[in-house]
Order: sequence, then structure tokens, then C-alpha cells
Amino acid sequence: MIAELKDKILNLSNDISLLISECPNLNSLEEIRINALGKKGSITSYLKDLRAYDDNSKREIGSIVNEIKNKINKEIVDRTHFFKKQILQEKINTEKIDVTLTSYENETGTLHPLSRTVEELCAIFADMGFSIVDGPDIETDYYNFTALNIPTEHPARQEHDTFYLQPNKDGKRKVLRTHTSPVQIRTMEKIDLENFEEIRYIIPGRTYRSDHDATHSPMFHQCEGLVLGKNINMGHLKGCLIEFCRTYFNSENLPVRFRPSYFPFTEPSAEVDIGCRKEKDGSLSIGEGEDWLEILGSGMVHPRVLEGVGIDPSVYQGFAFGMGLERLTMLKYGIPDLRPFYDSDLRWLKHYGFIPVDNPSLHSGLNGVFS
Ligand code: DAH
Repeated sequence: MIAELKDKILNLSNDISLLISECPNLNSLEEIRINALGKKGSITSYLKDLRAYDDNSKREIGSIVNEIKNKINKEIVDRTHFFKKQILQEKINTEKIDVTLTSYENETGTLHPLSRTVEELCAIFADMGFSIVDGPDIETDYYNFTALNIPTEHPARQEHDTFYLQPNKDGKRKVLRTHTSPVQIRTMEKIDLENFEEIRYIIPGRTYRSDHDATHSPMFHQCEGLVLGKNINMGHLKGCLIEFCRTYFNSENLPVRFRPSYFPFTEPSAEVDIGCRKEKDGSLSIGEGEDWLEILGSGMVHPRVLEGVGIDPSVYQGFAFGMGLERLTMLKYGIPDLRPFYDSDLRWLKHYGFIPVDNPSLHSGLNGVFS
């Protein structure tokens, strides 16, 4: 009985070996494998049937079946290698690489001038102890206006040419932020007054106003600055912004002028001008001449703004500033028109773009700003 079974198994094994050696390709080999060694395979079924035998026979037949299983397995692996080699050889014989063809030109990417400006600003302010934060592009009316001491009927609201979103169910309309100043409020709200000494933040990001000509785009970029602590005064504001202007424009003795101005969220407020000469051909020479060019707005954070976020203005004071990044970029690199900034025209980018700076630390914290 056992001897008969052994014969049967050996015959089966021989049949399978023959099939393997004669099979024409990988697909049919896989079929043979499944039929023999798969869950319901012919060899596997012998292992399943072992239950019917006594212990001695089980051991004897079990070891034969296992041996055959290993043998068949090895034959399948060998045959697989054979087919793979054959396929590779066929590829080698038929595929050719023409090494005489001229290669494609490898284009080197350049940094968009705006990204470059953001990186420069971040580096300059980081040297003065500033960190970088950001906030949402879609703002509530409260953060964009009210918390910044711009009440509902204030004329500044009209000047901002605001893009409003459809009203929510409660009738309130969100806005595309018209400036980066709302992030001042969001930042100050997060301060833990128990453990608070001082903060220095810059906030670069996108801003939106309904305005479009050679120097205005409906989407543009600003960089906000905020310093808050005890005993911060107008002298700190001036020192910080003079240092910034001179470093950014690479001009050690650049004349910088603080001109009294008005912003609802600062008191006193000052606009910052730099010395320049407007040449007859319309170009600008920065750092020399009798003319002045406005480049940013600034001021001491208004006591009402501080009170609005629960900060006592008799204990803490701060200064803030805001600047348009397109304008700063155009001035520094002599770019006359703002519109090509967003055209993705490679000719323009090649002309005004920059080979990426290799200092990766300058990129830190900017993720998402100009993605
Ligand atoms: N948010 C102002 C604007 O968009 C710019 C500005 C002026 C920001 C003075 C400030 C500031 O933080 O102190 O025109």
C-alpha cells in the first residue's frame, strides 16, 4: 500500500519535472507551480492526506513528499532564472543606445527674484534676532481690520480694495487678507504673558487687493515685522529699519528718512524713505542724489491694538513695519514692470532670475511662502 503510494508520488514528480523542463515561458511555469505546490496543488494534497495514515507511515511519506517539494521548487527557480536570462539577452540583442546622438541640454533652474528677496530679508532680520511666522491668506474681517483698530466705517477699509468671499451662514464675509498685518494680532494672541520677555517676528507672505497696473497686481507679497517687549521705543524702530535698508540695498551710508504718517494700528506712525536720484532716462540711482523714495510703513504698535489682545500697553510696547516685496525687488534690481513677475516667462526668469543660493539654512522656515 505504502510502496504503491511512493510510486505514485515519484511518478507525479517525474511528470512535473518534465512539464517544467518543457514549458515555454514564465507564465506557463507559474501555472505549473500553482498546480503542483499551490494550496490545492497535486503535491500539497498528498501532505493533506497524511492524516489518514499511522505515525510511521506519516513520517515516511511526509519526508518523501517534502523532498519532492524541495526538488520541484528548485527546478522552478532554475527555470525562472533561465527565462529571465533569456529575456535580458533578447533585450541586449535588440535594444541599442546610439551614443553618437547629441544629448538634451540640461536646464539649470533659477530662483525667482521674489524668492530671492524673501530669503535676503529673512537672513537680514535673522541676524537681528527675528524669527519667521506665517498666517492664513483667508482672514476674518476681525483680524484684517477690526483688531487693527480699523473700525467698520473707517475710510481705510475702502482704500484696501478688499476681495470679499461669499457670506457665511451667519452673514459674515471672510476676506483675502489685504496686508500681512493681521498676523501681528494672531501672533500676539498666542503670547503667554506669564513667561514673556520679548518677541521679534517677520511675516512674509501673499496679500490681495483689487488693483492692477504696471506697479500693482491683485496678488502681491508683503513682509510684516513685529517687535514687542518692555521698554521698546522709537529708537529701536529707527535703528532696526536703518540697518535693514542699508544691508538690503548694500549701501553703508544710504540716507534713510522717517516721515510722519498715519496708520490706524500704529501711533506714532512713520513712512520710511531712502535717498536716491531719479535720472533723466527714468532710471534710479539708490543711495545718492536729492530725491526720496518711500519703501515701507512703520510705527509704534497702537495701545488700543495691544489692549485688544489683552496686553497692557503701560507694561509692554512694540513697533511694527510692513513693506511690499515686489516693490523692494523692482527697486533693487531695476525691474520696471511688475506684471511679468507672475507670467512664468522663462526669458524673463533667465534675465532676472538667480542661481539658487547654496546655503540651505536660508531656506528654513520659508516652506509654503512661495510654493
Ligand atoms: N499694513 C500696511 C499696508 O498694507 C503696512 C504697514 C504700515 C504695516 C505700518 C505695519 C505698520 O506693520 O506699522 O499698507
